Amino acid sequence: MKIYLIGMPGSGKSTLGKPLASELGIPFVDQDKEIEDREGKTVKEIFASLGEDHFRQTEAQVLREWAGSEKSFVMATGGGSPCFYNGIEIIRQSGLSIFIDVSVAELLKRVGANKDRPLLHANDLKEKEERLAGLYEKRLPIYQQAHVILHHPTLKSLLEVIQLRK
Ligand code: S3P
Repeated sequence: MKIYLIGMPGSGKSTLGKPLASELGIPFVDQDKEIEDREGKTVKEIFASLGEDHFRQTEAQVLREWAGSEKSFVMATGGGSPCFYNGIEIIRQSGLSIFIDVSVAELLKRVGANKDRPLLHANDLKEKEERLAGLYEKRLPIYQQAHVILHHPTLKSLLEVIQLRK
């Protein structure tokens, strides 16, 4: 079984994905970490030295490889992964996609002080909120194509949904 957690940066894909995978007894895959291992650079460094296009291509390649494998896993996808190179189609066709929908106000609280996300780079919190809100609005129609949409889920609610789908 392949489970993809999709959603905005700060929505909790990794935080929920790790215990979820361990409850289900399958590996946890952090897509950003896969990209970093492949490139030998952090996401931030890839954006800075090779550019976003290069990042998106590697991201799409990593997604396709895992999607085409025989493996079971829970993947915390990068926030933009469903939105480039038909990512959402690949995700939907190869497994169960779950959109973790979290309000922009909550996202801001979680990623506000973090400087590791190049797309959210901003001079102050107000600007960061605008960036988050803009990205959220643009991506929502894509995220909403997920098989399941959960608002502010807990590990328990995620597990319940997955048991129902099995
Ligand atoms: C991105 C989200 C990041 C990372 C990169 C781009 C995005 O992952 O892939 O900085 O486009 O939303 P997280 O969603 O894990 O923060």
